Amino acid sequence: MERLDKFLCDSGVGSRSQVKALLKSGAVTVDGVAERDGSRKIDPAGCAVCLHGNPVGAVGTVVLMLHKPAGFVTATKDREEKTVMELLPAPYKNMDLKPVGRLDKETEGLLLFTNDGELLHRLISPKKQVQKVYYARHEGHAGPEDIQAFAQGLVLRDGTKCLPAVLQSLGPGESLITVCEGKYHQVRRMMAARGMPVAYLRRQQEDFLELADLPVGQVRELTEAQIQRLMGN
Ligand code: URA
Repeated sequence: MERLDKFLCDSGVGSRSQVKALLKSGAVTVDGVAERDGSRKIDPAGCAVCLHGNPVGAVGTVVLMLHKPAGFVTATKDREEKTVMELLPAPYKNMDLKPVGRLDKETEGLLLFTNDGELLHRLISPKKQVQKVYYARHEGHAGPEDIQAFAQGLVLRDGTKCLPAVLQSLGPGESLITVCEGKYHQVRRMMAARGMPVAYLRRQQEDFLELADLPVGQVRELTEAQIQRLMGN
């Protein structure tokens, strides 16, 4: 049993004050009867709570895209560092969302979150080989030999073998890199292996999803059609 107001907040309906106002307005029903008392104890598994007639608590698959800023670690908890979870707006905080893969603390760009364990697994599975496109500013100028080395499958300084990747020069000190795996610091290490250390890195695209005009630090919820496409349906 739990308090109705807490259940509504935890279900992402709104902040405590928003929930209070919704209760007061009579928008919330429990088993079909308007309930204005937030302190009422309910059994979420055994009763039907509705807001404006729509069931609450039955959160389906949610996928969010965040334009991650630099300075946040990709983790659900960290003792010292700020985590990407702190960037999720209130309604998404209690949906059990997990980051899909990771971006380094200093890397910006597209980071997905989902509450669907199967989808998360599918997206990070090495078998699926989801394509990710990065924009990098770096030392040096990517030339034909670098492009060929990426295409052949680069061997990193510690001997790690990478799958074939696409390096596209945008001019001196600027490149696009497309990889289909997610090894630790992969793009930075690939570029360093070719003598082009990276100063700035941003993930632009993952699978068919693009950052487009999503401002830094903001999230966008994926549509049902986009979720289905990610699931391979
Ligand atoms: N490659 C990196 O080096 N860093 C990232 O954050 C992502 C890919």
